[in-house]
Amino acid sequence: MLFDLQPKTRREDLYDREKELLEFRDALSLGERLLLLLGIRRLGKSSLLNVALRESGFPCAKLDVRSLYFTHGSIPQETLAKRILDSLLESLSAKHKLQLGLEKALSSIKGIRISGIHVEFEKKPDLAELLEKLDSWAEKEGTRVILAFDEAQYLRLSGIQYDGMIAYAVDNLSNLTFVLTGSEVGMLHDFLGLDNPKKPLFGRYAREIILERFTREQSEDFLRKGFEELDFKVTLSEIENAVNRLDGIVGWLTMYGYLRGVRKLSEKDALNELFRKAHALVRDELSSLLSFSRRYGFILKAVALGNHRWSEIKDYVEVKSGHVNDAKFSALLKNLVKYGYLIKTERGYEIPDPVVSEVVKTL
Ligand SMILES: Nc1ncnc2c1ncn2[C@@H]1O[C@H](COP(=O)(O)OP(=O)(O)OP(=O)(O)O)[C@@H](O)[C@H]1O
Ligand SMILES: [Mg+2]
Repeated sequence: MLFDLQPKTRREDLYDREKELLEFRDALSLGERLLLLLGIRRLGKSSLLNVALRESGFPCAKLDVRSLYFTHGSIPQETLAKRILDSLLESLSAKHKLQLGLEKALSSIKGIRISGIHVEFEKKPDLAELLEKLDSWAEKEGTRVILAFDEAQYLRLSGIQYDGMIAYAVDNLSNLTFVLTGSEVGMLHDFLGLDNPKKPLFGRYAREIILERFTREQSEDFLRKGFEELDFKVTLSEIENAVNRLDGIVGWLTMYGYLRGVRKLSEKDALNELFRKAHALVRDELSSLLSFSRRYGFILKAVALGNHRWSEIKDYVEVKSGHVNDAKFSALLKNLVKYGYLIKTERGYEIPDPVVSEVVKTL
């Protein structure tokens, strides 16, 4: 169902994204080792990742780094190693022979215990050794292992040099492919440092697949098809109105479709409920930024209220929170761009998501 709120896992539930899936497949068939799926929040990165992994047919591990980080407050090596192996073994559960082969390949790691799809370590595992084992197993089986890290920018907060580990694998382990997604695109780029001579991944090649908002036509078609699936009648003007408010952000369109077509709220109530939920969600997403500096909130509000130029935004912020020096202000703005909350266009700074824009007006 198109209006299912969970990240999609099956091709038939995924609207379009043909071009992106093709590119993903192309990168794998060329044996590329580093793929990035990038885009602001709620554009369907996790859904695209799920479907692309499933369609690839390769053994794969997928980790939700954002939730790992928020559950543990850090991402220790043993947790990462355990999650990789649990997920990989699970991906092979229908392929018994491969699963047994992998268990055998891993059994030479000191202190490892495997029962079914669960792995435990008696002592801290050596991640590099583990990746080497996966690589040689893949080589022997004539396959490729995909290691996918959803919202990988959180790895940078782990206190461990995971960028170095990825660089080592990318350089030396030709049967592994890393797929990293990120909604905080600038933060992910900073973490990887492909263009930063001081970072281990400097100069490496990465395939970047950038998710865009749906066009107006696609957004309307998405809603129409979703409602058709549910046999739920809506007028053309309702669809146009929803797209006017939500733009081509598939996450919001899906939520609208769910509230209206599955929960059967009226058009007005569905939009109200969506904005109520969005309010809670966006506030929660912004909370850690706002705890660093309340100025982030004032900047976003300034932009949402129609200030786009650097100096207009700064004036607004200073009225609200007193003098801020130029360098400090620029650094705050730059961070908001890195986190994906602002984009820079020829008009100046803009909030790329109209729902977020509505919410920050109330900050
Ligand atoms: N191509 C698509 N077709 C149908 N539904 C989609 C599509 N892409 C995403 N969705 C739906 O939109 C919502 C957001 O998708 P998803 O969680 O995959 O996005 P995301 O970019 O990973 O979001 P976040 O930044 O919050 O992690 C979900 O309800 C999902 O089911
Ligand atoms: Mg996601």
